[in-house]
Amino acid sequence: MKAIVCTALACALGSAHAAQVAMEDQSQLKVPPASQAPVFMPPAQSELPDNAFGKMVRDGYALFVDTQRLAPAYVGNGMKCSNCHLDQGRMAHSAPLWGAYPMYPAYRKKNDKVNTYAERIQGCFQFSMNGKAPAADSHEISVLSVYSYWLASKAQIGVEPPGRGYPDVAQPAGGYDIARGKQVYQQQCALCHGADGEGQKVADDYVMPPLWGKDSYNWGAGMHRINTAASFIKYNMPLGKPGSLSDQQAWDVAAYINKHERPQDPRLVEGSVEKTRLKFHANDGVNLYGQTVEGVLVGQGTGK
Ligand code: HEC
Ligand code: HEC
Repeated sequence: MKAIVCTALACALGSAHAAQVAMEDQSQLKVPPASQAPVFMPPAQSELPDNAFGKMVRDGYALFVDTQRLAPAYVGNGMKCSNCHLDQGRMAHSAPLWGAYPMYPAYRKKNDKVNTYAERIQGCFQFSMNGKAPAADSHEISVLSVYSYWLASKAQIGVEPPGRGYPDVAQPAGGYDIARGKQVYQQQCALCHGADGEGQKVADDYVMPPLWGKDSYNWGAGMHRINTAASFIKYNMPLGKPGSLSDQQAWDVAAYINKHERPQDPRLVEGSVEKTRLKFHANDGVNLYGQTVEGVLVGQGTGK
């Protein structure tokens, strides 16, 4: 796993509070295709009270949109939470926080386990942010939970709101094609995300997030699944033109992105990509981890 560069203080805090969380159960959400139903409206930032509660919400918001800079001890790549949960976690069909918060704790029949909201966020730190999970009672998890609670104000507990998650986009009958995906990428994505998926930086800060390579999400993240990435892309990309790609284009370009190397799955089993594939990837949606594509074994990691 990538070494986490941080100041002495942040490292000390990190080791004191970082939790070893069992992350075997990052099972994917079952989200229906998008419907025309009206979506939930979270409160406006201007409605925040000027008191201790308002301050916690603001701290959670700040951490959500500037994660790498504000929580370096827990982030091992160049990402911010809001890179994949658009419009500060408010946008429908972009796994909005108001759609998530009322649905936890979530019971999973498959392994007879309950996932708390804290555990769900910890999962995004370990995989999407390629970092370490802050402890459930840490400042980080607390303020992110308070921010989510506030966005979900007046939502119904335990009732899945339309607009939650990334809507399912069924795999096209003919499957997907990586070569076609490369063309979509070059024509519609490279301008912002870079010819080699590297994103764009201003000084040390990414202004366009990377899609693969050492500063991207790792091989355990939900986005590494082609089906999940296709859903995200169809409803959120190209930025400013959501819904403009066909399902086929979304699948093709999702496969192209997810055949590229990224940081290793932190759950790597005995150093073996094959064992890790069997344990964690064989039944995890559609993904290329541990498969040979164009003569190359996918899933070797970026080694940093
Ligand atoms: C690389 C993209 C990416 C980043 C960065 C990311 N997430 Fe996520 N997040 C996802 C995906 C994908 C899912 C849904 C996984 C699925 O469908 O299985 C998800 C799910 C969630 C959920 C549950 C949604 C629901 O409706 O149940 C929450 C809450 C969440 N993320 C919070 C965060 C927080 C907080 C951060 C920053 C610490 C973060 N995410 C960073 C991609 C990302
Ligand atoms: C106009 C610039 C622009 C274009 C064009 C664009 N993106 Fe993005 N993309 C962004 C930005 C900016 C974000 C992060 C959003 C945020 O932080 O609010 C993002 C986020 C993403 C993410 C999730 C974050 C990550 O780094 O993994 C993926 C995946 C993605 N884009 C894929 C694509 C694909 C595929 C295309 C082409 C079909 C595309 N984008 C076109 C600007 C763009």
